[in-house]
Amino acid sequence: MAYFVWLLTTTIACVLFLNFQTTIADGGGHEALRSSSPPLFIFGDSTVDSGNNNFIETIPENKANFEPYGLNGFFQEPTGRFSDGRITVDYIAEYAKLPLIPPYNKPSAEYIHGVNFASGGAGVLSSTNQGLVIDLKTQLKNFEEVYKSLTQKLGSKEATNEMISDAVYYISIGSNDYMGGYLGNPTMQQLHPPQEFVTLVISNLTFAIQELYEKGARKFAFLSLSALGCVPALRAANPKADGGCFEEASALALAHNYAFSALLSNLETLLEGFKYVYSDYFYNWLNDRVNNPTHYGFKEGVNACCGTGPYGGIFTCGGNKAVSEYQLCENVSDYVFFDSFHATEKVHQQLAEVMWEGTIFSLAASPSVAIGPRSYNLKDLFFEKEKITIADVVDIDSGYQII
Ligand SMILES: *[C@@H]1O[C@H](CO)[C@@H](O)[C@H](O)[C@H]1NC(C)=O
Ligand SMILES: *[C@@H]1O[C@H](CO)[C@@H](O)[C@H](O)[C@H]1NC(C)=O
Repeated sequence: MAYFVWLLTTTIACVLFLNFQTTIADGGGHEALRSSSPPLFIFGDSTVDSGNNNFIETIPENKANFEPYGLNGFFQEPTGRFSDGRITVDYIAEYAKLPLIPPYNKPSAEYIHGVNFASGGAGVLSSTNQGLVIDLKTQLKNFEEVYKSLTQKLGSKEATNEMISDAVYYISIGSNDYMGGYLGNPTMQQLHPPQEFVTLVISNLTFAIQELYEKGARKFAFLSLSALGCVPALRAANPKADGGCFEEASALALAHNYAFSALLSNLETLLEGFKYVYSDYFYNWLNDRVNNPTHYGFKEGVNACCGTGPYGGIFTCGGNKAVSEYQLCENVSDYVFFDSFHATEKVHQQLAEVMWEGTIFSLAASPSVAIGPRSYNLKDLFFEKEKITIADVVDIDSGYQII
């Protein structure tokens, strides 16, 4: 018994010692810069943009730094988030015990807890909304700049690499490629049949993931695409005009999700140490809220809270758009959609909760998308390091033959 107690205290002492060493190795005097939570890096479109587009020249449709965005008062003023308040990544940062992750374009942004590179309107392909957004390629270039700046700040490449491999990379992108980039672009439709276009998007996205992996990223979280044809703007644009969803758009989203899910399980096999969370159930998850809003604490799943015309589907929210008139609902908390394209804070919060705990994602979207024992939820991705550290210590213990 005494022997076990001794062993236990020795192990604990080792853990403390190792932590102490790590702190010192962090580049002399900079240890206070890192919190115990891994940093969060965010790439993507308006589903995750926290204000990068405030700083670029673009059309009003790609901005949200005016009223009534942010109207619920969580932030003192509209921030550029396409929501009445917070977005998914704000909640994830909170659950991970991180501060709000700053947009890359914000002057004097602090990079130490991560950076948000996302840009409303951006797609995987550079051709999507070209010239009006920070495309994925540029988002990756900006990440490289952050890497350089961190190396300076932390004092060594080793410390930076440790931070980069410890970080979680949240990527939410693709909707704009299919909506504006394909369905809104007859030339693209002539160039590529739908399935070929999906392949093009997926292969470019693969390229981006591999680039991050080569820079040392290991822990990824991906949001799959929602039933795009059911967002108010596309419901209003449905050529059948029967009040239903724009089927072609939803079919593209499903094809994308299916291909992406297959790709990710391949990458997991091919890339050593590649870990990911993939919310493959998101398509059904959101659709369920659209079709059965009252089951989830909403009253309205089809119409947007803010907008004009059928379903609030004409994207005029904020009035800083082509049409200056718009309607605003009385109680945002009743709605699934805030504007013609974007969800309300309440949806973002519910999504962040399930991605964090991962409970629903064990119910795969289709039986062919099995969730195996190696899948993670976000909580695992953020906090597994403690487990790994303890395992490392045990290995080191036996290496030193303490036992
Ligand atoms: C990415 O997309 C472009 C078209 O926008 C295509 O020319 C290029 O080959 C794609 N790259 C990859 C790696 O698939
Ligand atoms: C707004 O809606 C939510 C959810 O339906 C409800 O809990 C709340 O009481 C409503 N607020 C007002 C002012 O009606």
